[in-house]
Amino acid sequence: MSVAKPLPHEAAKLHVTGSAHYVDELPTPRGTLHLAFGLSDIASGTISNMDLSQVRSAKGVVDVITASDLDRPADCSPSNHDEPLLSDGTIHYLGQPLFLVVADSHHAARRAARLAKIDYTKTTPILTIEDALAANSHFEEGPRIWEKGNTAQALETAPHIVEGEIEMGGQEHFYLEGQAALALPQDDGDMVVHSSTQHPSEIQHKVADAIGLPMHAVRVEIRRMGGGFGGKESQGNALAIACALVAQKTGRACKMRYDRDDDMVITGKRHDFRITYRASFDETGRLLGVDFKHYTRCGWAMDLSLPVADRAMLHADNAYDLPNARIESHRLRTNTQSATAFRGFGGPQGMLGIERVMDHAAHQLGMDPTELRRRNYYTDGDTPPKQTTPYGQQVDHFLLNAMTDQLAQSADLTARKAKIAEWNAQNPHLKKGIALTPVKFGISFTLTHLNQAGALVHVYQDGSIRMNHGGTEMGQGLFQKVAQVAASRFGVPIEMVKITATDTGKVPNTSATAASSGSDLNGMAVKAACDTIRDRMAAHLADLHQTDATEVSFVGGRVSVGSAEMSFSEAAKLCYEGRVSLSATGFYKTPKLAWDRIAGQGRPFLYFAHGAAVSEVVVDSLTGEYRILRTDILHDCGHSLNPALDIGQIEGGFVQGTGWLTTEELVWDDSGRLRTHAPSTYKIPACSDRPDIFNVTLWDGENAEDTIYKSKAVGEPPFMHGMSVFFALSDAIAQFGQGYPALDAPATPERVLKSIQKVRG
Ligand code: MTE
Ligand code: MOS
Repeated sequence: MSVAKPLPHEAAKLHVTGSAHYVDELPTPRGTLHLAFGLSDIASGTISNMDLSQVRSAKGVVDVITASDLDRPADCSPSNHDEPLLSDGTIHYLGQPLFLVVADSHHAARRAARLAKIDYTKTTPILTIEDALAANSHFEEGPRIWEKGNTAQALETAPHIVEGEIEMGGQEHFYLEGQAALALPQDDGDMVVHSSTQHPSEIQHKVADAIGLPMHAVRVEIRRMGGGFGGKESQGNALAIACALVAQKTGRACKMRYDRDDDMVITGKRHDFRITYRASFDETGRLLGVDFKHYTRCGWAMDLSLPVADRAMLHADNAYDLPNARIESHRLRTNTQSATAFRGFGGPQGMLGIERVMDHAAHQLGMDPTELRRRNYYTDGDTPPKQTTPYGQQVDHFLLNAMTDQLAQSADLTARKAKIAEWNAQNPHLKKGIALTPVKFGISFTLTHLNQAGALVHVYQDGSIRMNHGGTEMGQGLFQKVAQVAASRFGVPIEMVKITATDTGKVPNTSATAASSGSDLNGMAVKAACDTIRDRMAAHLADLHQTDATEVSFVGGRVSVGSAEMSFSEAAKLCYEGRVSLSATGFYKTPKLAWDRIAGQGRPFLYFAHGAAVSEVVVDSLTGEYRILRTDILHDCGHSLNPALDIGQIEGGFVQGTGWLTTEELVWDDSGRLRTHAPSTYKIPACSDRPDIFNVTLWDGENAEDTIYKSKAVGEPPFMHGMSVFFALSDAIAQFGQGYPALDAPATPERVLKSIQKVRG
């Protein structure tokens, strides 16, 4: 059986030889036009005059389009209809598209876009959390508040109060492949769009609206992305809509891709947060109650900010039983890029809040941080009394007590802590730190209706299989995993299964490949389609051999029917000749979900994925620089569909999460200009930033819920193992003095240095 085997990524060979096709590699028809946006140079105000004469007369320019040239409003928003493709005269952020240049080459379009002469009437931009609070600028009427128990009371009488705040920056997705789209006009006005998108159905929907066609006239295709990380759930809409509009107008193919700097200046990033906390603990380190305030900087448009902020609230407990909790969430509107989905979707920000509380409390109570965390974990197993999260979901099948024991042992935590203390005593300028952090991440879209998926499978008369489903491939290995499911259902070698591009003409009404649920949803949908065909084949073959369908089995590329045996290809041929339909759709919807997001009550998640990480760092007090010496991760993928791909996701997620919390810093100046808009100023982790020793192990277990082959989703949860590095840094900094470091993120060397100075007093 293919499932559970560590087979390589389906496109590994193409990736490493540079021959994989991305949208930008697709051959374009003769006469293809190239597009570029002209961008706003201020963050807030209105356009008083826009002189585009030099743009129009520039070499290679075919057309220049402004909002007033459009027949109907073109909106790019995935949620709120608040993102006009081109400014209607109001400026919401520095980098906002104002006009669209159509030219005969990519470079001609970009060059011409810079020649505009624009007069603005400036207003004071709302840039920071303070600005937004002072201006009462937010997306919802008042804050969202969820509460469990009586937090005010729990905070009144406690022996220990732990209080503070943590700031955490946003994060640029830095997908290797930038945003790109190609629109190809078809006969009778139809449109085909190739888009580097995690959400082809949304591209289809938004393009159809913008060009005034029903969805059936627009087909969207995507074979693969060079990374998405959430940045291609909604941020590709503008390019696809622009291409389709001009393609409709001119009858010519249109292509658009953002240069890296434009990509960073135009598109949204991870939400930065400020979280304030006030928590009470008893003498043993048990948390009694906690009050959180989340301040979320959403940028200029709503995009996915409400569900992102919800998911942050939903992870305010992480792995801990909070007897009393109150979480207040402010969704702030600012004149910056519209913050969007990014791996973890708010979860990492929410979790960092409670992990800070645990770290701070351990320091204040003089307890070992791992011990204090353990004391507050939910209990493992399923014996009553059951504990519930702050949002009322029962915590079933919790694993972290057992996993923490196993990881502490394999990482030799106790002995290493003693060694580090010894080492620190002898080194005045360098100090080491170590931390263990847990992750419990909820799996399912919190917008319940998104938890559905479809598939379309064909078996040809030679026995080869063509597999289509609604999920998209962005490097995470979804296509490989789902192909292994299909091969397993038919008992054939993986080579028999053709992996195909995602296509809205094959599978309709799909959800974004997001929330880590790609393999859970599409794996089940493909399984259903395969089983329908397999059952039809079994019934027909049983009939031919005058036996029962239960006597038919599909194993090792062979089909046995009672005492007879044949190849799968021969079986397919027989079924074709017997006029059996060898094509089927499959559908899946996640069971057991019920969620009221306003009340903050119910069961938003089918299950939780777990993991824990231990990281050791060394910090230089003279420069604030540091290195990760060793990281050990134990992660729960249930019964893994593909251990090689899952370990890859864990390693990659950890490195990306560590980048968010250490070196990746976004800086806007006082005028709202993003100063870190290129790899020269924005530092993602390099290969040399990986831990010197890096051990990743899969937890040996299976999902207690009925998921595809008892596996668990893996895409986002390992991202949060980066927190182990952050708190190891906090631990190392604390060694330089007496106070609590109260480190903010990202912990750049600069911030680490300041923090060292602070603890030294
Ligand atoms: N891994 C790679 N290599 N590239 C990506 O863009 N995106 C992440 C994660 N892992 C991503 C990745 C995000 S944000 C999500 S939600 C999941 O993959 C989506 O895929 P899945 O649902 O199939 O896990
Ligand atoms: Mo992932 S942030 O859900 O695309």
